[in-house]
Amino acid sequence: MKLAPSILSADFARLAEEIARVEAAGAHQFHLDVMDGRYVPNLTFGPPVVEAIRRSTSLPLDCHLMMERADSWIDAFLDAGADGVAVHPEVVYHLNRVISRVRERGKKAGIAVNPTTPLVVVDEILDEIDYVVVMSVNPGFGGQKFLPGSLARVRKIAALVQARSLAVEIVIDGGIDAGNVRDAVTAGAHVVVAGSAVFKNADPAAKVRELIRLGESDG
Ligand code: DX5
Ligand code: ZN
Repeated sequence: MKLAPSILSADFARLAEEIARVEAAGAHQFHLDVMDGRYVPNLTFGPPVVEAIRRSTSLPLDCHLMMERADSWIDAFLDAGADGVAVHPEVVYHLNRVISRVRERGKKAGIAVNPTTPLVVVDEILDEIDYVVVMSVNPGFGGQKFLPGSLARVRKIAALVQARSLAVEIVIDGGIDAGNVRDAVTAGAHVVVAGSAVFKNADPAAKVRELIRLGESDG
């Protein structure tokens, strides 16, 4: 499994330092939550912050775009240094066009599905994407409670991926901590996002190591 700390819960005044310490602890990539105050009732950051983070780490940066009309922002986030971009299919006009644009630029294209997004959308686009972000909370805030039905959704998507022998990665996002990281991996998640569990902990590096150890344990 790969651990992707979400910087949403980090101290934004000390971002480079926060990033360096979880990177040194073995984090595999970073998850950057972009929120527009419209699609979700919260507002975070845009391409300039992604660009600043790009200068602070060489790990892959996955931008999770919780925004309306992400179509018109794709190039800006890629120019800022994103390695992957995930959009919510409900709020882009032409999903196929957005996905194609990301891949044309040689970057990873993902879709993010909310707890009640019908999985038929995943089925339809599965051959054209690199990853699926399975939301295990409603998008908008860090620190929410994990929705247990998410594990069944991960299993269903994993079965679709396997049936077609694809290399699509499954990312689980929201409410992950020591008590459920192993369940998420067992269900089929390849990448586990953790925000508050890591950055609200007194020792973020120790939490990163713990989550990786539990995620990779045999049960
Ligand atoms: C929620 C975000 C998540 C969030 C996860 O809208 O997409 O990435 O940062 O935070 P935790 O791990 O605190 O649930
Ligand atoms: Zn996210």
